[in-house]
Amino acid sequence: MSTPSPTRELSNVLIRPMQEADLVEARRIFRVAFGTFIGLPEPETFAADREYICTRWHAHPEAALVAEVEGRVAGSNFATNWGSFGFFGPLTVRPDLWNQHIAQKLLGPTMELFEKWGVREAGLFTFAQSPKHIGLYQKFGFWPRFLTALMSKEVSRDKVSPISYSTLKGHEAGQVLGACRELTGSIYDGLDVTWDIQMVKDQNLGETVLLWGGDALEAFAVCHGGEGSEAGKNNCYIKFAAVRPGPGVSDRFEHLMTACEALTAERGWQRLQAGVNLGRSEAYRQLLRRGYRAEFQGVAMHKPDSPAYNRPDTFVLDDWR
Ligand SMILES: CC(C)(COP(=O)(O)OP(=O)(O)OC[C@H]1O[C@@H](n2cnc3c(N)ncnc32)[C@H](O)[C@@H]1OP(=O)(O)O)[C@@H](O)C(=O)NCCC(=O)NCCS
Repeated sequence: MSTPSPTRELSNVLIRPMQEADLVEARRIFRVAFGTFIGLPEPETFAADREYICTRWHAHPEAALVAEVEGRVAGSNFATNWGSFGFFGPLTVRPDLWNQHIAQKLLGPTMELFEKWGVREAGLFTFAQSPKHIGLYQKFGFWPRFLTALMSKEVSRDKVSPISYSTLKGHEAGQVLGACRELTGSIYDGLDVTWDIQMVKDQNLGETVLLWGGDALEAFAVCHGGEGSEAGKNNCYIKFAAVRPGPGVSDRFEHLMTACEALTAERGWQRLQAGVNLGRSEAYRQLLRRGYRAEFQGVAMHKPDSPAYNRPDTFVLDDWR
């Protein structure tokens, strides 16, 4: 068992909005910080085929913060605005500056962003085995609840033709965003992930799959795919998916997964990945029955200490990374 490292306070830390000129160093620190924490022999190779920093900054620069020490980037954090719900990450600090309160200095203004946006509840995904991570976030009112698993499966092609958001134009696209908002709002009042649907479309990071039943949107999945997205090489990754609650929800979830697997195969990717909080026990068990296996697990921390939409009967896929 390791003993906690002593914490020293740095006085000259400036927290400010991230600028374009920070991106290269912020991205380097992101890779080195995670690579160092998980013990990679070459830390800077962490998630080399995946992009979290530039894409998020380009989509929502107002939600990206940088810590600067002596004129150099020392760390960064990103907040996500999903309407009444918010989460943050990746939060990273240059390893030679760990345990000097830089993360805490980034987290204060991150909480202010949530307040400004009026989020009702907030969350994050972190290393369940790390007393440091859990202790750090508890200071800001986040409490550990259920594990979240990143599940995945190799796919084969199925005969399904989902309607894709990227093919829609102007007025129609606007209506679809409204339908997505209405669906997520029926699961958790005010939940709105159009922030991510737009980002995937604008930067061509993947596709949003839509399943209709007559005029009603029954389910949708915002997917990243391939290198340079959050999925990585040969992968399709469901950043967020939701299925309309009520009778037949489990069949709708099956259809959605079939459609996402078809998208994965059609685009020539091999694995489909999706995060599920284990508090959403029905969706989790259905993924297991479909042959999905956990690649890794972390813990979801909630502010306040209540389930938000991580309930047994919610068919939602996401992992708050
Ligand atoms: C996690 C990370 C961002 C923290 O940054 P940091 O600048 O070192 O963190 P800080 O110095 O601000 O905070 C350290 C806090 O951790 C907590 N902590 C550390 N060890 C602890 C322990 N054993 N038990 C409880 N709390 C502990 C304390 O609250 C401590 O602050 P304190 O000394 O004032 O009480 C940084 O280590 C990092 O970049 N890690 C790799 C990437 C990563 O894991 N990112 C987060 C993913 S969710």
